[in-house]
Parts: sequence; C-alpha cells; structure tokens
Amino acid sequence: MKPPRKLHIKSYGCQMNVYDAQRMADTLAADGFVETASADDADLVILNTCHIREKASEKVYSELGRLRLAKTEAFRAGRDMRIAVAGCVAQAEGEEIIRRAPVVDVVVGPQSYHHLPELLARAKREGRAIETEFPAEDKFASLPQPKPDTIRTRGVSAYITVQEGCDKFCTFCVVPYTRGAEVSRPVAKIVDDAKRLADNGVRELTLIGQNVNAYHGDGPDGRGWTLGKLLLQLAEIPGIARLRYSTSHPRDVESSLIEAHRDLPALMPLVHLPAQSGSDRILAAMNRRHTVRDYLSVIDRFRKARHNIAFSSDFIVGFPGEREEDFSATLALVSQIGYASAYSFKYSPRPGTPAAEMQETVSAIDMDERLERLQALIDSQQSAFNKAAIGTTVDVLFERAGRNEGQMVGRTAYLQPAHVIAPTDIVGRILPVKVASLERYSLLGELAAASPPGPAASFQISIGA
Ligand code: 5AD
Ligand code: SF4
Repeated sequence: MKPPRKLHIKSYGCQMNVYDAQRMADTLAADGFVETASADDADLVILNTCHIREKASEKVYSELGRLRLAKTEAFRAGRDMRIAVAGCVAQAEGEEIIRRAPVVDVVVGPQSYHHLPELLARAKREGRAIETEFPAEDKFASLPQPKPDTIRTRGVSAYITVQEGCDKFCTFCVVPYTRGAEVSRPVAKIVDDAKRLADNGVRELTLIGQNVNAYHGDGPDGRGWTLGKLLLQLAEIPGIARLRYSTSHPRDVESSLIEAHRDLPALMPLVHLPAQSGSDRILAAMNRRHTVRDYLSVIDRFRKARHNIAFSSDFIVGFPGEREEDFSATLALVSQIGYASAYSFKYSPRPGTPAAEMQETVSAIDMDERLERLQALIDSQQSAFNKAAIGTTVDVLFERAGRNEGQMVGRTAYLQPAHVIAPTDIVGRILPVKVASLERYSLLGELAAASPPGPAASFQISIGA
C-alpha cells in the first residue's frame, strides 16, 4: 500500500474559508491525503486565500516566496512538493498568480475546489492547472462527507455553508465578483449535514454565508425557506444545543428571523450585523441600500424579541468622500448601540469595484486617526460588555483543553472565551460558570453547579490564558 500523502492547508480570511479548507481536506482524504501541521514536510500545500482587502491579498505572494524555498528543499531531498492557491485571490488573480509565481502548480477558485484531485492530476501531466470558472454543477453535491473521526477531531462547534455569494454589490466589496451570485443550498442537504455532525459530537452549529439572511433554499415542501424557518428545523436535531449564523445584511432581516430569536433558546443572542458607516451619505455611496434609521429599527426589532440580545458589527473608515462629520456620525451610531464587539477596517480600494474609481480619497493620516478613535470606542464597549459578566453565572460550551495545566476553555453565548480548571471530560458540555475576573478578552472563573462526572477535581480560578 502506498504511504498516505501529506496535506497542509493554510487558510486566510473569513469563516467560509475555514469551512472550505475542511471540505478540501475531505475531498483530498478520499484521494489518500492526510493533514499535517507543517508546510515543510507536506506533499501538497494549499493556500486558501482572501481578497477582501489589499493587505489580505498580499499575504499570498509573501507566503509563496517562503514556499519556493521549502519546495526547493523538498526537491533536494527527493520529494515532490505541490503547491496550490485556492480561495478568492485565486478567483480574482488566477492568471497573475500563474505569471508571477512559477512555484504554483494549481490555481483553483472557491467554486471549483471539488475538482482538486483532477486538477492535481492535470498539473502532473501538463505542468500546471488553473480553474476559476463558475461551474454549472453543484459543488456541494460532489463533495465527500467528512469521516466520523474527522468530525470528532474538528471539535464540538462546526460551520455549515448554507448560502454562498452575494447580489448586493456594495461599491467597496469584491465578494460578488469572487464568490459569485447568491445561491442557497436546499434545506434537506443542510439538515443531513447537521445530523451527521450532531451524531459525531457537534453541539454548536454556525450557519455561514456571505449574506446568510438572504437564505431562500428549497424546503421539503417545495417552497423557498427563510433562514428563520431553517433555524427552527435545525433546533429540532438531537444534540444540537446552540445555533448561530453569520454574516447578515441589515436589509434582509425578515420577521421569521426575529421570531426565531424570540422562540428558540438554542439560537444564541449575538447577531453580527455589519453597519459599515453611520452616515447616510456614505451608506448611499457604498450602495448599502439601508439608512442609519433602517439599521436602528432592525436593532430595535431584535431587542424587542430577545431582551438579552447583543450585537457585533463591521465598520469601514476612510471610504472615499468620508468627511469628519460622516465619521462623527459613525462614532455616534456606535455609541448609541453599544456593541459587544466590532471589527473596523481602513478602506482598501479593490480592483474592479466601483469605489476604486472614486476620486475623493481620504488621506492615510486621516484614515489612521479615524481608525484609532473608532477602535478605542469599540474597545471600551467590549470591555464594558465583558466586565458586566463578572460576578454573574454564564453558560459555557466547553471546547478544548487550555494552555495551562488542568485548564479547560469554552465559549459563552456571546462567544467570549471562558477558562476554568476542570476535568477534560467536560468537552461538549454546556455548564454554568461563575465569572470571577477578566484577562484581556477572556472570562476566568469556576464551574458553578454540580460537578461533572469523572474524577473529583478541585475547581479554582485559572491564572493565565
Ligand atoms: N476595504 C476595507 N474593508 C472592507 N470590507 C469589505 N471590503 C472592504 C474594503 N474594500 C470589510 C467590510 C466587511 C468585512 C468583511 O470587510 O466591513 O463587512
Ligand atoms: Fe460584500 Fe457584504 Fe456588501 Fe455583499 S453585502 S457586497 S458581501 S459587504
């Protein structure tokens, strides 16, 4: 029998890339590959790339520089190392990668990675292979399912892609070009995937999509189901204790989603709802299709349905034409809402997007200064949110052992990491934790109620993270 070939995948960017990396590993496992933690001893290295901002994109070329040396070393040692570039940079700059980086054997876009085994075979025959078309067939239909053992090693929290692509065309964003038009997977397929995950120890599902709440997959009744309806169905699966979804567009929040937050205890009370800006003028230039008032009214609907709901968001500073008063409006929006956490980015012009052609650019100095002010405000909100947990008892889904002796790590309903000293058999269980203190963004505490089964253990507040 041939020894298994070693595969190393390095993923950049969003949650969907993490999910895609797993599905690529599943596809290649069927072809005799096993995953390895280091690129140096791999027979195949895949860079699963992100194109959302220039900085993310550039990482590919510096990583390829390093891999060129590793490939030369491997060649000297008599090994054949193959290198593939996948993901959104592959989609957007496939030809350029082939031209600029002779070290690359295969380029594969996000809609074609189920063809990886064929592309590798083609690269072996013809030297190199590239596929960045949007194939007509359903990628998901041809992807093999992960093995039970693989699901178990990936942990108790899993992603499922339910929707892909985006039709919104925000003027700054590459996603509609790299991921293509918005497509929803059928309900039955998602339920099958979810059951398989639950049967193998998964307790928490995060449904992912570039515009996840635009979900409208075919239901078993032949109708298009909303995300809210899908969540209701998934909550019925034995073993699934927590549900999340990401990323939502404020314009597509339907009442069934709000009702799901009202009716489903398993649906976690944290909603990632990117606002991007607090200025109507900038939101219009971004083609966001919502105003600040629309955004606030969506927040209000969620809050009325679930009193303990919290929000996270994305913001862009320095979009072309953003004046000080527009930026102040963003600060005012953030102050008004009070986020549990939020990401903020400097605007990065992306080739081929309408905003990249806009002339009224914001200076680097202004961008830096605005980013700093916004991040300081968001940080203070996040600290306040985390501090409010001290002294309370919160439910934690335990995921893994921590770095320190005896320490176990899990997450709260609001995705805050929580650390306690406890036996390892609490992985996969949701247990109450009395929060004693904070260490940066983590909650430190001790198990609050009845001890879990297993060896007696002394519970104490963990130190360090
Ligand atoms: N420049 C800066 N940030 C961007 N994002 C998307 N495109 C750009 C860009 N061109 C941000 C948005 C989005 C998040 C995933 O990345 O805030 O919500
Ligand atoms: Fe990009 Fe999100 Fe706008 Fe779609 S809705 S274009 S993914 S920012």
